[in-house]
Order: sequence, then structure tokens, then C-alpha cells
Amino acid sequence: MANSSILDEFKTTHLAEEKIDTNRKLKVGIIGTGWIADAHMQSYLKQPDVEIVAYADLIPGKAEAFMKKWKQEGRVYMSGDELIDNEPDIDAVSVCTYNCQHAEPTIYALKHGVNVLLEKPMCVTLDEAIEIRKAEKESGKVLSIGFQPRFDENMKMIKRIVESGTLGKIYYIQTGGGRRRGIPTPFGTSFIAKDTGGIGALGDIGCYSLDMVLNAIGYPKPLTVTGYKSAYFGTNPKYMPCKEYAEAFGVDDFAAGFVRLEGDIVLDFRIAWAMHLDTPGDTIIMGTEGSLRIPSTDCWNGSVGGAMTIYHDLCGTQTQTTVPILHTGADLFDLKIRSFLDAVKLGKPAPVPSSQIIYNQAILDGICRSAELGHEIEIEIPEI
Ligand SMILES: NC(=O)c1ccc[n+]([C@@H]2O[C@H](COP(=O)([O-])OP(=O)(O)OC[C@H]3O[C@@H](n4cnc5c(N)ncnc54)[C@H](O)[C@@H]3O)[C@@H](O)[C@H]2O)c1
Repeated sequence: MANSSILDEFKTTHLAEEKIDTNRKLKVGIIGTGWIADAHMQSYLKQPDVEIVAYADLIPGKAEAFMKKWKQEGRVYMSGDELIDNEPDIDAVSVCTYNCQHAEPTIYALKHGVNVLLEKPMCVTLDEAIEIRKAEKESGKVLSIGFQPRFDENMKMIKRIVESGTLGKIYYIQTGGGRRRGIPTPFGTSFIAKDTGGIGALGDIGCYSLDMVLNAIGYPKPLTVTGYKSAYFGTNPKYMPCKEYAEAFGVDDFAAGFVRLEGDIVLDFRIAWAMHLDTPGDTIIMGTEGSLRIPSTDCWNGSVGGAMTIYHDLCGTQTQTTVPILHTGADLFDLKIRSFLDAVKLGKPAPVPSSQIIYNQAILDGICRSAELGHEIEIEIPEI
């Protein structure tokens, strides 16, 4: 799928309801000026109470070129830390770096009293997530994780259905999905190299499918996990744009996990960047009073693939209820940015809090560790 059409997938909801106070402008910086920084920039420029004042990227000239491409003025730096050190008045940063550089600049910004909108996945390991949580707690600042599908009305409907009790007690969930061919190499190897991506399909799209169901059921704590991961496509030059990319491939292109959650719920998960299959299955949420089927999509970027179905009994008859897809026409990225800004300005809780996403990260981390050890492991998350 072309890059622009992936971003177009997010344009499906409406604008935030808050009345925006334009007398108080927020000074914002962008750390990491690659592919996703464009989407942040596009949304920030629509906000009447934001000034983008600084940009940082490790690659010489990249931040400046980015700033000029967007016809902006500001200061450019060679790292997130340098930006934070030299911008004492900055209110917030978007951390748009590759996965292995999520934790360090986020912690640095929080420790310096700066609010952070951090791209997904939260980071690479559970240890990093714990350090991020600690820094956030000590700072008292807003940290929101960039899961824009949360703002999709269809996602909200999944949560509403679960919370309504229509499904009864939830006991089994199957989630995940993937692409027949879709290893992301849009502008190089940052998604697929071990030292930049850190985790592959698991972190890139797996975190979305986990968030879809865990958010719906109230983010119960993960207890144990049996994980598997492989890289049969990414390391094979036949499936990659060039031999060099296959050689650079150091992450998973497929991962699966069987997770026990608090509340006697099991979660069966699988995710693929590439496979010989159209989809490894829809998302299903099974409950004692009904079950919900959520169709998968071809590219699995966190969206609902079509009308959902509730299977339940009505007056003793087995029946199905179709939940039509909702098209509201606004941009999920705008909602993600606006909700973060509102939290910063109005002192509201983070729209996508790390207190939840740390459980998502614990599952990703648990799958990796279990896969490496070859057996089930317990997940231990300290109270922070
Ligand atoms: N929310 C979404 O829909 C979405 C879509 C695509 C990517 N992402 C996420 O965004 C992140 C970035 O992805 P991308 O495609 O833009 O990657 P990218 O490789 O195109 O850009 C990342 C940039 O960050 C820079 N960088 C790394 N560490 C830095 C640091 N400490 N200080 C300053 N600059 C630093 C790199 O030099 C690079 O230019 C990834 O974690 C990815 O998962 C989210």
C-alpha cells in the first residue's frame, strides 16, 4: 500500500468538541522528522493554539529539510536531548523516532518537565516501559501514546458493546491479523533493523490489535504468555525490495502468543507483516451471553474491516445482529493530536494513558522473551 494511502486510512472521524482557547498557545517540538512526523505536522498545523518551534533529527540536515518542506520557521537540533536542553519554554514534544529511540527522548523530556505525545508502540521492552512510567509519574506531566485508532467511532462501539453487558462475561479473545505482503520499508530499514525497529510486526501492527481488544475489556493485567516469532519472509531476498534489506532484517515478521489475563480470560493472538494467506483470522470476543466478530483488514493498521456481527440468543433462538460500520468523515490523527493538546492545556488525563499501554507492552515483551526461551513465562509488572 502506498504511504499516502496508509495515512488516508485514518481520515474517518470528526473533530474534537472542546472549545479551543487561542489566547494561550502551546510551544511544541518534533523529535524525529521521518515518515510519521509528516502526519503530526499536518495535524499540528490545523490547530489554532500551537506554535511548532523546534525540530530534531539525528541525521544531519534532515530536521532542517523537514521544517523547510512544511514552510515553517524554528530551530533545528541534532537530537531530542539537545532540543530539550535548548528550549526551556517548550510545552510539549511529539516523539516520532523509531522504536528503539522511544524510551530515551521520552524519559529525558518528562524529566525536564515537558509533556510528551509518544508514537506507538510505547517502546521495545517492558523494562523501558517501566522507566517511562516512572519518569512520567515523577514529572506529573502528560504522556499519551499515539494509538489513533482509539478515536475511531467503530473502536468506541466495540468498547460500548462489551460494557453494555450484551456479551456477558468475556472469557476468550482471538485477535491480530496481518498482511499477505507488507513489510514496511518506506524510507529505508528503520522498521526492520534490530537496532532501530527492535521489534517487527509484533510492535508495529500487533500493538494495535492488542489495544483494540484490551481497551474494549478494560485492560486487564496480563499474567502469563507463551510466545512465538519468526522471520522467514524478511530474511529472504525473494520477498524483499533488495538483498541488502533482507540482510538488514533483524526483527520478527510473524508473531503469535497465548496470553492469560486477569479475570479468567485468555487471549489468542497472531500478527504478520507477510504470509502466504489473506488473513490469519478476524478478531473475535467470546462471552457467556454473546460473541462479537470484528472483520480484519488487509493491512492491519488498527481499523475495523467491515460491519461487525454479534452472535447471541433472542427469545431462545440463535440469532445475529449486524453492527454497521460508522463513517464519520474526520481525521483520527487530528483527534489524537487535539486530545493530547487538550489534556496538556486543561489538565485532563492522558487520552491514551501509559498505565494501560504498559500492559500492551508487557505482552509484546512477554511474547519475545517466551519465544526466545521456548516456554511459557510469567509476566511481572511492578506497581509504579
Ligand atoms: N501512528 C501511526 O500511524 C504510525 C505510522 C507509522 C509509524 N509510526 C511510528 O512512528 C515511529 C517512527 O516511524 P517513522 O516511519 O517515522 O520512522 P523514520 O525512520 O522514517 O523516522 C524516524 C526518525 O527519527 C530520527 N531519530 C531517531 N532517534 C532520534 C533521536 N534520539 N533524536 C532525534 N531524532 C531521532 C531518525 O533519524 C529518523 O529520521 C515508529 O515508532 C513507528 O512505529 C506510527
